[in-house]
Amino acid sequence: MTQADSSHKQPLPGRMPKSSGSSRSQNGVHRMFDRIAPTYALLNHILSFGLDFSWRRKLAGTIEKDRPIEVLDLATGTGDLLISMLRSRANISKAVGLDISENMLGVCRKKIERCGLAERVTLVQGDAARTGLGEGGFDAVTMAFGIRNIPDPAEALSEIYRLLRQGGAALILEFSLPANRIIRSLYLVYLRYVVPFVGYLVSRDKAAYRYLNTTIEAFYRNQDLPALMRKAGLSNVTTERLTFGTVSLYSASKHESQNNR
Ligand SMILES: C[S@@+](CC[C@H](N)C(=O)[O-])C[C@H]1O[C@@H](n2cnc3c(N)ncnc32)[C@H](O)[C@@H]1O
Repeated sequence: MTQADSSHKQPLPGRMPKSSGSSRSQNGVHRMFDRIAPTYALLNHILSFGLDFSWRRKLAGTIEKDRPIEVLDLATGTGDLLISMLRSRANISKAVGLDISENMLGVCRKKIERCGLAERVTLVQGDAARTGLGEGGFDAVTMAFGIRNIPDPAEALSEIYRLLRQGGAALILEFSLPANRIIRSLYLVYLRYVVPFVGYLVSRDKAAYRYLNTTIEAFYRNQDLPALMRKAGLSNVTTERLTFGTVSLYSASKHESQNNR
């Protein structure tokens, strides 16, 4: 669990409190992301042909811009979504980035400082499913390519619901599979053979880029994310498919009066 207090005030901008350690913080996913942290962002850009920037910009563009807001980015990794949101939305007065991997957060902190954004950012090490952050503290909670790594996505979605203010937005980007059978077959070849090979060449970590393709396929086939979002209490759930459906942007909002749990 993170040590962030319920008012999520105490971590200094750009600093991370140390994890007190949950069972999940010990697991293989945590260690794997710790290992690949130095090459993670570069490989993302290579393997997506730079499209990952546009996916994050797309999410950032859906965030409201007319009043000061506070956002939380779960599974923030090396911070590319945080940076994209802060650059495109000057009204974000405070952004919290949370991740289970210290090494990913270490890379993130350096990038945030280089971009001159540290004053508006607090980084927290913790589990997205049990953040320990205060209830109803955020106008938007985001997660890019993180939900499929969480052992119980329903638990993480309930946590997102808890963390949102009334009317707040849940915005989730995740890999998906194209509906068109020909494009899907070509994409699966890319995912199963090219991604692990290039991933290994750059990161020297064979398991990590096998993990990527197996989790993308398993998550997409086994989890109905919009249904899980509704079950967590979120309303107005929409799905926008990006780049032939290889990535989807799931949006929803918190309106207690329409609680559809
Ligand atoms: C594929 S990366 C995505 C990073 C970033 N959001 C991006 O768009 O590049 C997944 C991230 O989820 C983090 N992660 C995995 N399980 C987590 C958990 N239970 N709680 C918080 N973060 C987690 C990993 O450490 C990793 O940084």
